[in-house]
Amino acid sequence: MKLSRCRLPLVLAGLLSAGFLFHASAAEPAKPKSGQAAKKGGEVKTPGLPTPNYIPEAARPLLRKKMERHGEDARDLMFGVTLLQYDAAKAAAQRISSEPRLVRPIVGGEDDLNTLLPERFFVLQDEARNRAQAVATAADKKDDKALAESYGRLVETCVACHSAYLNRQ
Ligand code: HEC
Repeated sequence: MKLSRCRLPLVLAGLLSAGFLFHASAAEPAKPKSGQAAKKGGEVKTPGLPTPNYIPEAARPLLRKKMERHGEDARDLMFGVTLLQYDAAKAAAQRISSEPRLVRPIVGGEDDLNTLLPERFFVLQDEARNRAQAVATAADKKDDKALAESYGRLVETCVACHSAYLNRQ
């Protein structure tokens, strides 16, 4: 068809520029954070959480180390799910669900960072793992509706844990 053949490049150009805009806003530079290691030039920096005042500065790098992969996985997962790239979505969801977990405080370990964290943190940690697994399953089945819903549920847990962490409750 003549008409649609003429239109195709236009549509493609539109899609491409929309894609660039999307990328550009996702890659918006984060405000530099104190104590954050400088990253390689050109690398997209993930905006971080503020430090809650109950976490001693010394404990921060340990926690950050555990959490720094969140940013990359979160981006991969967001694009994987929204653009229905099932393999990418599944891989990112699996990385999130198999991330090493912080363990609940043990008796005698009163000085551990883990004792400072609220109980809800550990509950949400388990929940995030299960919900990420559900995203991986939906991606595996190429079930778009389940993918959208499970992703939404996972993100609820991400926000809930950040809130529990910041407010210590
Ligand atoms: C069990 C609690 C918990 C869950 C669940 C959780 N996070 Fe986090 N996240 C944290 C904590 C704590 C930090 C802050 C680490 C620090 O002090 O820099 C953090 C930091 C981050 C950061 C900033 C990383 C950086 O480089 O500073 C991103 C991005 C992030 N989380 C994304 C996510 C996403 C996306 C999810 C859900 C898939 C998620 N988080 C689930 C606890 C959690």
